Amino acid sequence: MSESKKISVCFTADQFDKYADGKSTVVVVDLLRATSVISTAFTAGVKAIIPVQTLEEALSYKGKEGYIVAAERNAKPIEGFDYGNSPFHYINADVKGKTLVLTTTNGTKAIHNARGHKVITASYINIEAVANHLIEKHNDVIILCSGWKGVFNLEDPIFAGSLADLLMDSDKYESSCDSLFASIQLLKNSNGDLFNYLRDSSHRKRLKSLNMEDDTHFCLSPPIKSDIIPILKGDKLVIL
Ligand code: MLT
Repeated sequence: MSESKKISVCFTADQFDKYADGKSTVVVVDLLRATSVISTAFTAGVKAIIPVQTLEEALSYKGKEGYIVAAERNAKPIEGFDYGNSPFHYINADVKGKTLVLTTTNGTKAIHNARGHKVITASYINIEAVANHLIEKHNDVIILCSGWKGVFNLEDPIFAGSLADLLMDSDKYESSCDSLFASIQLLKNSNGDLFNYLRDSSHRKRLKSLNMEDDTHFCLSPPIKSDIIPILKGDKLVIL
């Protein structure tokens, strides 16, 4: 039996340098909504996704043949872009074969900070496929929660608890990371009802104030499942 591999959970994109080791597989999650959007877009047929850091960089692709440009700041769509950051932009949409250029408040920053590692993105849409892939590859794992502007959010660690549970159940992983055990406790406390457990969370309230509760429902309990695992190759997310 090969030795157990390690899992850790990093609560915010800004803390990643405390976890970076240049060899672990990094699983980026921004459950509300960037990595849920990424999973949905690939499932809808998008060919590749370029996560960028600035509005200006994203806008430089506007109007280019075969490109969609999407931007969000503070949960709001940005004037002049094709899309904001809702998964519903990609449901029954003409996006097959297109390249999506995406910039969000936290999720695309987390992907950027994890460069130099094998980086994949996860959501409740592809969680089973991601867990099976990690168990098969059997490498140390850092689950990178995007957080909100450098501080803890509630939804990403709950997802981290879901993924960590699947990995630990395989008996191929172990952990001595307090963030991981806290994430698993948060998941248990939610009693399987994430929507109500998150009723007082900052981002759920932010999305509710913008009439985006449908997005929250979609991301927490997606009506779609996918085996697609987005992986960062150079500056693009492509299908593994
Ligand atoms: C983020 O990047 O923090 C989220 O995706 C924001 C959002 O889309 O609500």
